[in-house]
Amino acid sequence: MGGSRVDYEQHGRTYGRHRRSDPRIASRIHAALGDARTVLNVGAGTGSYEPRDRWVLAVEPSATMRAQRPEGSAPALAGRAEALPFDDDSFGAGMACTTIHHWQPPAAGLTELRRVVRGPVVIFTFDLDHLPPWQQVFLHEGLLVERPRFPAIAEVAAVLGGRTRVEEIPTPGDCADGFVEAFWRRPEALLDAAVRASQSMWAVLGPGEEARLVERLADALKSGAWDAEHGHLRRQSTFEGSLRLVISEAPAPAGTDRLSFAGPPPHRVPE
Ligand SMILES: C[S@@+](CC[C@H](N)C(=O)[O-])C[C@H]1O[C@@H](n2cnc3c(N)ncnc32)[C@H](O)[C@@H]1O
Repeated sequence: MGGSRVDYEQHGRTYGRHRRSDPRIASRIHAALGDARTVLNVGAGTGSYEPRDRWVLAVEPSATMRAQRPEGSAPALAGRAEALPFDDDSFGAGMACTTIHHWQPPAAGLTELRRVVRGPVVIFTFDLDHLPPWQQVFLHEGLLVERPRFPAIAEVAAVLGGRTRVEEIPTPGDCADGFVEAFWRRPEALLDAAVRASQSMWAVLGPGEEARLVERLADALKSGAWDAEHGHLRRQSTFEGSLRLVISEAPAPAGTDRLSFAGPPPHRVPE
């Protein structure tokens, strides 16, 4: 686990334009939150996937991201997953969407989230091995940098501990949330610099690499090579790909071992 940091003060400036809740994914997240009335959303960004029918508190380190939260959104505190300023068992449920790969390290934030939540903890993340095969080829160099940042799904479940299950979510062909896999049947979208600007993978690439990857895809689309090999995808409505919910129903019973992790110890609020 671990890797390069993405600066959301810079990188997040247009996030809200292309990264919005997809209603089909949202309904799966909300179901997994159970009947909890209080929800903590960590790495909350602009507020995607926050339920509207419960009391929500968001934690988000980037002022640029907090500033894009629509009017009427839940209150958002400046803070990081690795040091949540709450007592144990403060919230009925917790959620973290497409953010754990930014945590330093992910296990520290997961342990903190589990500590401050009494009921379900819901992690929406990606299993990069299940990205569409064409993305694995065309984005190969980018994924080499991305992979070490993403904890394995089994590791996320093990760190959360307790009764944990993993759900797979099909990616809709018209997915409203513009993460990379969302464009599995709309490859042209990745040629749009504004779409890429709201995907953190591009921000961790070396100089010139983004242009090289985009050019390769543009060439394959222009020549018809992409459609010759992958064009059947354009007629599919969903793709069984990388989207995963890791749901920890309840904290591990006292005395249960969790995976150890390298990094700073979780913050505790002094008694
Ligand atoms: C891809 S965005 C996801 C935002 C939102 N959850 C969503 O689904 O749209 C990743 C977010 O993680 C936040 N983040 C980065 N490092 C973090 C950390 N250590 N603790 C909590 N959030 C962090 C970023 O500022 C950014 O808002």
